[in-house]
Amino acid sequence: MRLETEVERRGRSSVQKDARHVLHPWADLSSVGAENSLIVREAHGVEVVDHRGRRYLDAIGGMWCVTVGYGREELIDAMQAQARMMPYYTPFGDVTNEPATELAALLAELSPGDLNRVHFTTGGSTAVESAIRIAHLYYGSQGRPEKHHVLSRVDAYHGSTYLAASLSGKDADRTSFHYESTWVHHLQSPRYDPDHSPVSAAERLSELIGEMEAAIAGIGAENIACFIAEPILASGGVLTPPPGYHAATAEVCRRNDILYISDEIVTGFGRLGHFFASEVKFGVVPDMIVTAKGLTSGYQPLGAVLISDRVAAALVEAADPAKPVFSNGFTYSGHPVACATAIANIEVMKGDDICGHVRGVGPYFVERLRELRTSPIVYTVRGDHLMACVECQVPGEVGPTPRNMALAARVDAYCEEAGLLVRPYENLCIMSPPLIITKGEIDRIAAIMADALARAERELNARESG
Ligand SMILES: Cc1ncc(COP(=O)(O)O)c(C=O)c1O
Repeated sequence: MRLETEVERRGRSSVQKDARHVLHPWADLSSVGAENSLIVREAHGVEVVDHRGRRYLDAIGGMWCVTVGYGREELIDAMQAQARMMPYYTPFGDVTNEPATELAALLAELSPGDLNRVHFTTGGSTAVESAIRIAHLYYGSQGRPEKHHVLSRVDAYHGSTYLAASLSGKDADRTSFHYESTWVHHLQSPRYDPDHSPVSAAERLSELIGEMEAAIAGIGAENIACFIAEPILASGGVLTPPPGYHAATAEVCRRNDILYISDEIVTGFGRLGHFFASEVKFGVVPDMIVTAKGLTSGYQPLGAVLISDRVAAALVEAADPAKPVFSNGFTYSGHPVACATAIANIEVMKGDDICGHVRGVGPYFVERLRELRTSPIVYTVRGDHLMACVECQVPGEVGPTPRNMALAARVDAYCEEAGLLVRPYENLCIMSPPLIITKGEIDRIAAIMADALARAERELNARESG
């Protein structure tokens, strides 16, 4: 009998402790306590290694966030150096630290238009939450507290703090938690699928804008503070609106004095080939952008709200002289180690021209994955640069039905067996690999996916005929 190695023993112990003590984010509550977790213990480049020593190509990029790849010495050195020099000090009031101020100036330079004022947070949800509160303060301090309603969209994902979860519009995520619903409104999902849509892009666009205008008329523009939108709905299934949608919604917002908040937590920091996609790809200069994830390449938790000079100046001008306090922020806002990591990350991205690389390999990634549409169990493949998803179907059955979800789960499991991690969600296999991915590695992803689909299809056929 082979003896267990020390690494295997530690792995088994972690699995047991995890099963006994941890409630994971987004856990499957029907299997809490089961000893089935994947313990990832090492990572290099685009690969991660589990507690049994198995290697996987990480096509999830951590969680949309590990952009420059694992093990970049520049980021690790920056973290260490800052931790040695000063690991933490309060960011409250008029106190700050050098990395936070340097990073704020860099973000102002990289972002579009006049988004020159930065409010740091601890991650994505807290950035979203802060942006909405800033919109409330903006109108509230001008004597218009009734202008606090928020427009979001079905299929959006904005995080899991109370308000961010309330803004999110994914039906599958709505459970017996409580959600704010009196002043948060969801417009329909802006998804447009040119492969299957019965209407043209122009017709779909006019339907979406008509609905938005009708919703504004119904609620009253005088009651609405802001509209929040991911340029491409990421966790909702890499859903792309029809061309012209972002510019048109921004124009509706301007006309109605509604602030436009772009959630670039996934689309920012290179995933679409630019530091920020709002203006360059979608023709919009938002009033606020929220960013996180790729900001530090996932090496440290950090988020930020980038605020336009116009909005920031109004907050200052309209502040209550008796109480001129901006009462929002966190113990770890602008954490010096996280900010130093983000600065090193931006230097690596610029030095290696990561955005240029994504613009080069991104179309190849989508093209290779779209070849998978020849499989009868693929309903569609959609994507833009390095965010993509394969939607599975039992032939003739569309959407997240139980059979389609089970089928996608088989495809995910076969990918994992073959050394590829993709993100399972409903009947989708979602992919957002590190941005340093090469064409050879993209070929490996496409080949493993093709094999996994063929295996799942054979199994399905055998079950249906048996
Ligand atoms: C578009 C978008 N917004 C917000 C968030 C929330 O970010 P966090 O998980 O860092 O709170 C996410 C996370 O996946 C996201 O994809």
